[in-house]
Amino acid sequence: MSHSIIKVLTMSPSQDVVAVRGWVRTRRTSKNVSFVALNDGSTIKNLQLVIDLDKGFGLTEELIAKVTTGASISAKGRLVASQGSGQAVELLVEELEVNGIAHPDEYPLQPKKHSFEFLREIGHLRFRTNLFGAILRVRHSMTFAIHKFFHDRGFFNIHTPIITGSDCEGAGEMFRVTTLPPQNPPVLEDGSIDYSRDFFGKATNLTVSGQLEGELAAMALSKIYTFGPTFRAENSNTSRHLAEFWMIEPEMAFYDLKDNMDLAEEFLKFLIKFALENCADDLEFLSARLAEENKSRPQNERDEMTLLQKLEFVLNNSFERLTYTQAIEILMNCNMNKKKKFQYPVDRWGIDLQSEHERYLVEKHFNRPVIVTDYPRANKAFYMRANEDGKTVAAMDILVPGVGEIIGGSQREERYEVLKQRAAEFHIPEESIWWYLDIRRFGSVVHSGFGLGFERLLMFISGMGNVRDVIPFPRTPKSAEF
Ligand code: 4AD
Ligand code: MG
Repeated sequence: MSHSIIKVLTMSPSQDVVAVRGWVRTRRTSKNVSFVALNDGSTIKNLQLVIDLDKGFGLTEELIAKVTTGASISAKGRLVASQGSGQAVELLVEELEVNGIAHPDEYPLQPKKHSFEFLREIGHLRFRTNLFGAILRVRHSMTFAIHKFFHDRGFFNIHTPIITGSDCEGAGEMFRVTTLPPQNPPVLEDGSIDYSRDFFGKATNLTVSGQLEGELAAMALSKIYTFGPTFRAENSNTSRHLAEFWMIEPEMAFYDLKDNMDLAEEFLKFLIKFALENCADDLEFLSARLAEENKSRPQNERDEMTLLQKLEFVLNNSFERLTYTQAIEILMNCNMNKKKKFQYPVDRWGIDLQSEHERYLVEKHFNRPVIVTDYPRANKAFYMRANEDGKTVAAMDILVPGVGEIIGGSQREERYEVLKQRAAEFHIPEESIWWYLDIRRFGSVVHSGFGLGFERLLMFISGMGNVRDVIPFPRTPKSAEF
């Protein structure tokens, strides 16, 4: 039985034989002794193997020659106290097998720094780097922590459909799902495609959000959450947008907007705390990486805090809460705006907040996470509850330093007539959401929910600047290779 390296690194020197397997990170050879750094992904740390040809274990130079960066090997031996610094124990190898060689002239990953762009081009191999190992272990821990957070608070996980006939966000940026032949689809008299002859007997698409279905479940189980893939065909090639991303969407009956904000803040803090407590080695590595990157930035763009300090800071301080109207006042009167330094000037109430405005609020003005509420009704989705002022809706966006919007949510419109009216204003065909309207006729109640972008969360926790580097297989415009 072989041990994972994370386990071996906690063991003490002994006469027991220990077996390990993994991939070679580096090998250094001097005279008859080779030192191999072995990694099996269980931890960011490598196990040092010592292969000494003079110890009489029958190991040959010919075999050692195959132990190159990227090769897969199995080794057996005894743990001894390490001579070098950096590790307590090392494995004195007695048996060695090369499972799969990695031709040194062709293996693209070398023990040196590679650019993120290059690593994206070798997406099948980038898992082997310290960086992606760290990110994917943190990603796993966050998945686990999300389920734990909700489970411990009496929420139920609901699987909402991936193929839907409705457009939750009303943005119309959807991937169509069809089995109609692309060359000659059936058409109606007016020349438009006849989707009644499509697989589902109607036009369908990949979901942009599980919220509408989640609300139905919350109207029976009280507190639910979804955690699934969502798809958006927005052709925006930014460092924060993916065409396929994962979203966590809790939905709670009997919660108003304030309850919703409290839950969202508690949720984010729980996840940060969980990461700090359970991913210490990986976060230290990511923090050091960011510190290094920071040094290469111009003086005025450098972070004052390390990644770990930033996470601690967010954990220990309350989020700033303000309305959209207050945010506009701050932005209108700030020096950036007066000196015309924004690409989109803030000149009136009602404009969409651009990411430069969000960043100003979060990074310059408040310097902490911010919850902006009560946006103009025209700027937000039809399902958000209309406020009494007739101008705004009970929306909330959570913005965090370095990432911008991480959560979007709202109190939902629970009044049947008002919701019907709002859907009509947004030209949403009633037949596509009749069931969503209908639930308001039977035991309707105040309820709220939000959506956390999983990759945006990971950007925040890992300090990575591009959303493509926190998901194993990014899907972006013109890119779906692996
Ligand atoms: O603000 P959004 O569009 O809200 C909804 O979809 C609601 N139905 C959520 C709800 O109330 N249940 O998206 C929610 C979050 C955003 O705040 C952002 O973090 C993330 O999803 N997000 C994206 N992440 C990566 N790539 C994209 N293209 C994203 N679009 C949104
Ligand atoms: Mg949003």
